[in-house]
Amino acid sequence: MQRTLVLLKPDCVQRRLMGEVISRFEAKGLEIVAMKMIQITPELAKQHYAEHVEKPFYGGLEAFITSAPVIAMAIDGLEVIRVVREMLGATSGLKAAAGTIRGDFSSSRQMNLVHASDGEEAAARELKLYFGDSEFCDFNSPMTSFMR
Ligand code: TYD
Ligand code: MG
Repeated sequence: MQRTLVLLKPDCVQRRLMGEVISRFEAKGLEIVAMKMIQITPELAKQHYAEHVEKPFYGGLEAFITSAPVIAMAIDGLEVIRVVREMLGATSGLKAAAGTIRGDFSSSRQMNLVHASDGEEAAARELKLYFGDSEFCDFNSPMTSFMR
């Protein structure tokens, strides 16, 4: 099992696409083990996008990601880091394949609805930015097995 960090970005919340996106992760059989709505600060944005802070697009990216609330989620599953990245599609909504979340709902390079960690190291680092150890729930219990 792996765990990944997913953000439903401001455009996803503002366009009322949260349910649509969460439904895809549920339909895939993944386990959402933590979830909260927060407003990202410029400080958190710089930590989250540390690899991009020096890039020319960073100013616009920070303005966008701090512009309105996001949903942060921790998602568990087998090979979930790769699986979720593939469900998102290519970075730009203009290039993402039909059938992917970005391909189906975004026509923008910047406003591409969802973030997901791109590897094990990134996932570990990013999960710590949004959640403390005590915030991850135990998804499965013997009592709930009949519901699945
Ligand atoms: P990146 O980590 O390359 O993409 P991904 O989200 O697929 O991991 O870039 C982070 C975000 O920065 C990306 O989701 C959208 C934005 N971005 C731009 O606005 N312009 C760009 O040229 C790039 C590469 C990214
Ligand atoms: Mg990235």
